[in-house]
Amino acid sequence: MQSLFSPLPATAGDTIFALVEAFQNDPAPHKVSLSIGTYFAEDGSIPVMRAVRQARDMLVQAGKPHPYLPIPGSASYRNAARSLIFGANGPEPERVVTTQSVGGTGALKLGADLLRHICPKATVWVSDPTWENHAQIFRQAGFAVHEYPYYDAQTATVRFAQMHDALQALPAGSIVVLHASCHNPTGVDLSADQWEALTELFARQGLIPFFDLAYQGFGLGLDADAEPIRAMARAGVECLVASSFSKNFSLYGERCGALNIVCRDETAADRALGQLKLLIRGNYSTPPTFGAALVAAILSDDALRQVWTDELEQMRTRLVSLRARLSNALTQLTGAREAWDYIERQQGLFSYMRLSPQQVESLRREHAVYLLKSGRLCVAGLTDGNIDYVARAIAACAQR
Ligand code: LMR
Repeated sequence: MQSLFSPLPATAGDTIFALVEAFQNDPAPHKVSLSIGTYFAEDGSIPVMRAVRQARDMLVQAGKPHPYLPIPGSASYRNAARSLIFGANGPEPERVVTTQSVGGTGALKLGADLLRHICPKATVWVSDPTWENHAQIFRQAGFAVHEYPYYDAQTATVRFAQMHDALQALPAGSIVVLHASCHNPTGVDLSADQWEALTELFARQGLIPFFDLAYQGFGLGLDADAEPIRAMARAGVECLVASSFSKNFSLYGERCGALNIVCRDETAADRALGQLKLLIRGNYSTPPTFGAALVAAILSDDALRQVWTDELEQMRTRLVSLRARLSNALTQLTGAREAWDYIERQQGLFSYMRLSPQQVESLRREHAVYLLKSGRLCVAGLTDGNIDYVARAIAACAQR
């Protein structure tokens, strides 16, 4: 008798995690993982940030029990998450709903499920290209997903006129996924003027912005990276924000995220929160405690918050210098400065390398350097120990 599951197509699941697995199984001693979006310290380890270490010690010593959290998460975590996005002069807290979520991905799915409940016929628009999980999340929530123009491979910049025209043609109520900063996978963000034009368009057109804020602090800084969201809220646009503390607290496996929704008024916020409680309860019931307790402890203590902010800023500036080093090394090896200077114009964890899928494949097979097939390279995986090797490998493959 055939198994119930036989009709399922064979799949490796997610391509990013499949690459991580392939890397782990690769016996090459000189292998380099530049695939998944994880920040590695100079010694190649995933850092435990100083503030996290201190907060962790405090929590362990306190030895508190492990009760259920309320369905939307702990109040201190929710307040901290909200204020990190909106700053001191954000919308009135009563009209912002924030719920804890299972990572930024969980926030996207929760928001998608909520929107599907409210506007089942809406279509979802994501940038071309985008983080590959975006389309899957919204499709699994039941939406049709389409792409709007974003990246210009010729110039390694945003095709803003085409993007604007495409969004302008959408009917009111369309859901548009935006990367607030550190665009994944391209590392190419909109300028302040472009954001201003987009904010005006969303307000006029009645589009629904759904921001993905997974890399706050790694682009231009904590406040600047959230500014597109703040501006949208100031313009009176109801918007959703999936935020994550995976990267900026180096707390990947703790799955600390938040779904934040700016609503027109308090009544709308109450309705949204009620529905979110039902969605969460019907899914994983209540959120996990430990990572959220760490984040809340750090963000609600001035001294710890400063320790965290300082270290995050060091991580951000280190990425900037790694970009310069990679671009310089490639220039020296190939003699073509203009071929590589785009690496320094991009920001965040990723560089979208102008490499063909065949060149990416050669990098992996011949040099054990792992990038995504699209050419996305995680700059945060470069170290003193591997950067020259990586540059030589890229130069060798790129010149074929
Ligand atoms: C990435 O894009 O590599 C990260 O956001 C990790 C993930 O979940 O895919």
